[in-house]
Amino acid sequence: MKTVLGIETTCDETAAAVVSVDEDGLGQIRANEVLSQIAEHAAYGGVVPEIAARAHVEVLDRLIARALDRAGIGFADLDGIAVAAGPGLIGGVLVGLVTAKTLALVTRKPLLAVNHLEAHALTARLTDGLAFPYLLLLASGGHTQLVAVRGVGDYVRLGSTVDDAIGEAFDKAAKLLGLGYPGGPEVERMAETGDPERFALPRPMLGRREADFSLSGLKTALRIEAERIAPLAERDVADLCASFQAAVVDVVVDRARVALRAFSGAAGRPTALVAAGGVSANGAIRRALAALAGEAGLGFVAPPLPLCGDNGAMIAWAGLERLRLGLVDDLTAPARPRWPLAADPARAAVPAG
Ligand code: KG4
Ligand code: ZN
Repeated sequence: MKTVLGIETTCDETAAAVVSVDEDGLGQIRANEVLSQIAEHAAYGGVVPEIAARAHVEVLDRLIARALDRAGIGFADLDGIAVAAGPGLIGGVLVGLVTAKTLALVTRKPLLAVNHLEAHALTARLTDGLAFPYLLLLASGGHTQLVAVRGVGDYVRLGSTVDDAIGEAFDKAAKLLGLGYPGGPEVERMAETGDPERFALPRPMLGRREADFSLSGLKTALRIEAERIAPLAERDVADLCASFQAAVVDVVVDRARVALRAFSGAAGRPTALVAAGGVSANGAIRRALAALAGEAGLGFVAPPLPLCGDNGAMIAWAGLERLRLGLVDDLTAPARPRWPLAADPARAAVPAG
């Protein structure tokens, strides 16, 4: 059995977790401590990098101590220290990375500098023991991509957003409608009682043969509708949210369907369709993707809600996956505020139609 500490500080969650893996490759989360900074950023309607970095410094050491405590182990029991070294806000990334390097140096344990996106991408293997290759929709506040996950460190991007990320679009929609931050859960909650057909919002990119997304036009269309009927009653906000979410769902399903077609050229037959990242908490998106997977004769895997958003368990797990392959880092590992998961879009692999 191997056990790794995972540290996450790339955005507005400070997180520390302890995860073990047995000889059969089965993962076990032994502690998963997450402190959200939502309250600190709420007044600004988004994450303020300097506030985030400072907040990470203030709580990270205690959070790590608590994670080890919950797991009932000490530093000596660890086989490695994993940390998200990017992509993300540089201040926060540095807080986590310097902390992890210090711990690695003092405890003489290997450092595992993990890509935050790779950690989201591999979460389905922690929760469901999923085998490679699989099609991943990675959708969060900063990223939206469809990726063929072929192995650890082996990703082919089949599509991505040309403007806003899906989570960002939810956040902007919420802000526009006077809802709280982060916007995704708020929009989803309002959409539950709304009429998804009241507003005919566009479905950007629908039918395109590349699996790319574009969401800024949808956001603009939402704004125009909201301004047209202002002042907004609660009913109007609910209908706007429902119409917006329905448009996003249609786009996600259509883009994922295109990516499924492209997948075989890039990676063979997928074992499953997987959703990851904060947006994968959205029930409507989950249900629609599960239906699409069913149509294609595939299983659908999405992490349990606490593992959808940013967390330390996914970082520890990605660290374990890398440790098992001998992919360890040394103390020169850089902070990488920009760190793409997959280098080049696999345009050539996309068939017509
Ligand atoms: O992965 P994550 O926690 O952090 C990033 O790396 O960005 O994702 C946060 C994003 C936010 O934009 C948030 O609004 C969105 O995920 N989100 C949702 C839902 N829950 C969180 N979007 C739609 N529906 C949700 N239920
Ligand atoms: Zn994330």
